[in-house]
Amino acid sequence: MAKIIDGKKIAAETRRNIAERTAAFENTNGFKPGLAVIIVGEDPASQVYVRNKKKACEEVGFYSQVYEMPAETTMDELLGKIDTLKNDNRIHGILVQLPLPKHLDEQEIIAAIPPEKDVDAFHLINTGKIMLGEYSFLPCTPAGVMKMLEYEGIDVSGKDCVVIGRSNIVGKPMAMLLLHANGTVTICHSRTRDLAEVTRRADILVVAIGKADFVTGDMVKEGAVVIDVGMNRRADGKLTGDVDFASVEPKASAITPVPGGVGPMTITMLLENTLTAAVESVGK
Ligand code: GUN
Repeated sequence: MAKIIDGKKIAAETRRNIAERTAAFENTNGFKPGLAVIIVGEDPASQVYVRNKKKACEEVGFYSQVYEMPAETTMDELLGKIDTLKNDNRIHGILVQLPLPKHLDEQEIIAAIPPEKDVDAFHLINTGKIMLGEYSFLPCTPAGVMKMLEYEGIDVSGKDCVVIGRSNIVGKPMAMLLLHANGTVTICHSRTRDLAEVTRRADILVVAIGKADFVTGDMVKEGAVVIDVGMNRRADGKLTGDVDFASVEPKASAITPVPGGVGPMTITMLLENTLTAAVESVGK
């Protein structure tokens, strides 16, 4: 029987702490940390994420703004919006929800966000810092995973860590954070030969590929810690992760559920980054 890592509980505790620091910040400075979220188009999953981000901001006492732009928005219009927010001193964090509609160049948009307001840590400057281990902002999902491991007293040092998925948002920065915590890290992807042979070596297995119930019990070592970053919707409408919970849980020593695992931690780390951005803006 695995320990079920309760992301909701860890997120709630962390958010209470962020709310306290936010109140102290407002007391000292006379204004709130502010986050602007831009969503382009009507992707239903993105709409849910953005709604949750706004709600989370309100819970901890931030100022927040959501800008809903139509799917036909042009590069110039989106860059114009970012330019306005760049110069808005109520806004300390700017987040453009991804994915963007195909005709918009994500890299060019991310590059237009000033690194000090890039609370997703997607800008080239911030991704470079992640590589060096000199963070301004920790990337939200990987940082949420590290926080969960720390909370559960799971030491990464010297462990075999396997990350499935090599996205810029999760897989690559996840591998870096595990490496900086002295894990021995392997990144697997769609071209990995004999994936199960690699994943069975993992003491800590992080799965971020976006395929429902992909990792099954036979791919996991007895006693492994399994972190499921996936968020997929089954045909019957139910949410499910990338890990087949029923077959993996009996083998794991600890496992995150979906929903209620990594998801709430990602938004919590976004709040942490926004507070950091506000604090650093005062120092200037
Ligand atoms: N889409 C999926 N995850 C994320 C995220 O962490 N940030 C942004 N901006 N878009 C996303």
